[in-house]
Amino acid sequence: MSKSKGKAKQKDFEPNILVFCCNWCSYAGADLAGVSRFQYPPNMRIVRVMCSGRVDPAFIIKALKEEVDGVLITGCHIGDCHYISGNEYAKERFGRLHNILIKQLGINQKRVRLEWVSASEGKKFAELITEFTNEIKELGPLKII
Ligand code: FES
Repeated sequence: MSKSKGKAKQKDFEPNILVFCCNWCSYAGADLAGVSRFQYPPNMRIVRVMCSGRVDPAFIIKALKEEVDGVLITGCHIGDCHYISGNEYAKERFGRLHNILIKQLGINQKRVRLEWVSASEGKKFAELITEFTNEIKELGPLKII
């Protein structure tokens, strides 16, 4: 394949992005983004979980092995978790997950991201999705051997 053909293919690439949203803040933030009609790429699918602390690393690894090019985990800001410390637990797990992704699976750590989005941050949610989608487009399709 010629270089220009490869670049064209990369440009046409539309990533599959999975977004975990906690029920109490981020999901409401995503909802607000929709209600406010903030524009963002349509590449993502939301999985609503009760808390970011509920997102098991196994969910993320499974998603990445099955057609998903990037995973975004969102939750309440630190100190605002409905279950007190679920997001702190998520943050801790996330650090360990990054090590597994890079060292054992060779996946670029930019493909999995953790962010805090409150119910009033619809604009932030839309910007985050746009930024993350563009980053994953830059990285290209995920290929796990
Ligand atoms: Fe939102 Fe725990 S309830 S992060």
